[in-house]
Amino acid sequence: MSKRPVTTKVDPETTGHSWDGIQEFNNPLPRWWLWTFYLCIIWGVAYTIAYPAWPLISGATQGVLGQDTRADVAAEIQRYEDANAPVEAKLAAADLTAIASDPELVNYTQNAGGAIFRTWCAQCHGSGAAGAVGYPNLLDNDWLWGGTIEDIHTTISHGIRNTTDADARYSEMPKFGADGLLEPAQIDQVVNYVLQISGQEHDAALAGEGAVVFTDNCAACHMEDGTGDRAQGAPNLTDAIWLYGGDKATLTETVTNARFGVMPSWTGRLSEADIRAVASWVHSRGGGE
Ligand code: HEC
Ligand code: HEC
Repeated sequence: MSKRPVTTKVDPETTGHSWDGIQEFNNPLPRWWLWTFYLCIIWGVAYTIAYPAWPLISGATQGVLGQDTRADVAAEIQRYEDANAPVEAKLAAADLTAIASDPELVNYTQNAGGAIFRTWCAQCHGSGAAGAVGYPNLLDNDWLWGGTIEDIHTTISHGIRNTTDADARYSEMPKFGADGLLEPAQIDQVVNYVLQISGQEHDAALAGEGAVVFTDNCAACHMEDGTGDRAQGAPNLTDAIWLYGGDKATLTETVTNARFGVMPSWTGRLSEADIRAVASWVHSRGGGE
């Protein structure tokens, strides 16, 4: 049996094109493929009519079905806001000191307060509220301005040393070096005294003279014993907790050029319920008084 050439019967016609003797088959596309292709085109056209699709100069075609994912999100947010409205109203009207003993409010402030903190406060105070240089740790029980729920509420409501809120907490440490209030030698003395009262290595003779400089220049704000004054936001200098740093170089810089930590006011940017939620959250973190 001679082998039949495969070409003659099975092969489709050629298109008649020929390149260097190579010919082109005229193969029709499979029917199923072609129909899928047509259906896709129909689907595509129908989709752009039904849904927002074609960009215009400003905006886009809206689609006849009126689908709007932005409105969907807004509606979803509204649904949660409606659901939270009663507890938020209760929170805004509650006695600040009563919040911690109301299980419903505690549940709400722990969740909402944490979320608010991560959105608005973590940039400065750290995601876990442990702070950074110049931004106080809110987890310890060392407070610049006070750690009761009322104190924290006031701090958050109005901020610190900002220029936008007339009720912001305010105080200013003098620039003892830059403004020539103390000689460099006196600064060295008082820095050694601060090293001494904070339990660090120091020069005893210089610290002895520094004690006098301290009484004359620093005690009005940091108190005679150096433990600070919350009414003025003047830090305790006797503990090992530093806002800017307790080493000799940093202390010298602080006394020479002073510090001016600024925190924004949140009244108007956050609702009263939100301020209370985040205040309660901070208060409950461990260092609340
Ligand atoms: C732009 C940075 C910034 C943001 C944002 C910020 N803070 Fe502060 N916050 C500070 C600084 C700086 C201080 C310390 C100011 C000072 O030196 O007295 C401070 C102090 C505080 C204090 C006082 C701590 C104490 O020891 O008395 C509390 C409480 C506080 N912040 C809570 C918050 C909360 C809650 C938010 C979010 C709603 C927030 N902060 C957002 C910068 C910020
Ligand atoms: C008018 C009040 C005032 C006087 C007087 C004053 N301080 Fe202060 N001091 C402050 C305040 C307020 C802060 C906090 C600044 C901030 O948070 O930005 C501060 C911060 C400091 C710090 C930073 C502490 C830390 O945790 O990093 C040191 C150190 C310090 N003062 C030392 C002194 C010494 C030493 C003197 C005297 C030579 C002095 N201060 C006088 C108000 C005062």
